[in-house]
Amino acid sequence: MFNIFRKKPKETKLFYHTDVHCHLLPGVDHGSPDVDTSLELLALQQEMGIDHIIATSHVTKATFENTPETLRPAHEKLCRAVAEKGMNMKIDLSAEYRIDEFSLAQFKENRFLPYPGNYLLLENAFQQEILGMDELIYELQLKNFYPILAHPERYDYYGRHRERYTQLHNAGVLFQINLLSFTGYFGGRAKDTAQWLLEHDCIDFLGSDMHNRQHAEIIMDFIGSKDYNRIADRLRSRLMNDTEFAS
Ligand SMILES: [Fe+2]
Repeated sequence: MFNIFRKKPKETKLFYHTDVHCHLLPGVDHGSPDVDTSLELLALQQEMGIDHIIATSHVTKATFENTPETLRPAHEKLCRAVAEKGMNMKIDLSAEYRIDEFSLAQFKENRFLPYPGNYLLLENAFQQEILGMDELIYELQLKNFYPILAHPERYDYYGRHRERYTQLHNAGVLFQINLLSFTGYFGGRAKDTAQWLLEHDCIDFLGSDMHNRQHAEIIMDFIGSKDYNRIADRLRSRLMNDTEFAS
């Protein structure tokens, strides 16, 4: 007999196909250390329904002083390995630029790696907003870049003054929220803030910010949960992950 109480099988795929934030290039930051690990993590991305990633390795003064010259060979190496495996995965090269002197110098010299379409992933400092944030945003926009703020929910100083989110978003800053934040992985405040941003239609992109296998497993576990389904329902028609970078 038809059992009306039988549970629907749990969803295992993401509702989008492009991951715009991950640390899967081999050996350039504290994400994937080598090509084999990168391939393993890409296989997990595929399991979740991702067929296109934008590789956004850290560019941070003192810790990860990456430049186009350090990132390009890692990108080429990974693309070769993916092709050899016959994997269906498009990998675009960009970076996650911490706003500091090191990145600002690269912007000034016009020696940096935006996403396709001139989007630029920016990471703020975690202690306080950088000085001159509004001016920087304006300058980038004048040069026809679209700034995306990486995981705004993780900056506690914004979480406590949420009107700043509205201000930045109204000024044209796009917001990329980490799916992991909704799981509580980055703490209660980041989770609440991510929820608030969702309810206020301030989420333009979702990203995994995947550095390792644990991140992938937490996301896989989250897919299909009640919270996940709520996010998918709210964002399905407004998320820019796939519409901007069709593969
Ligand atoms: Fe990141």
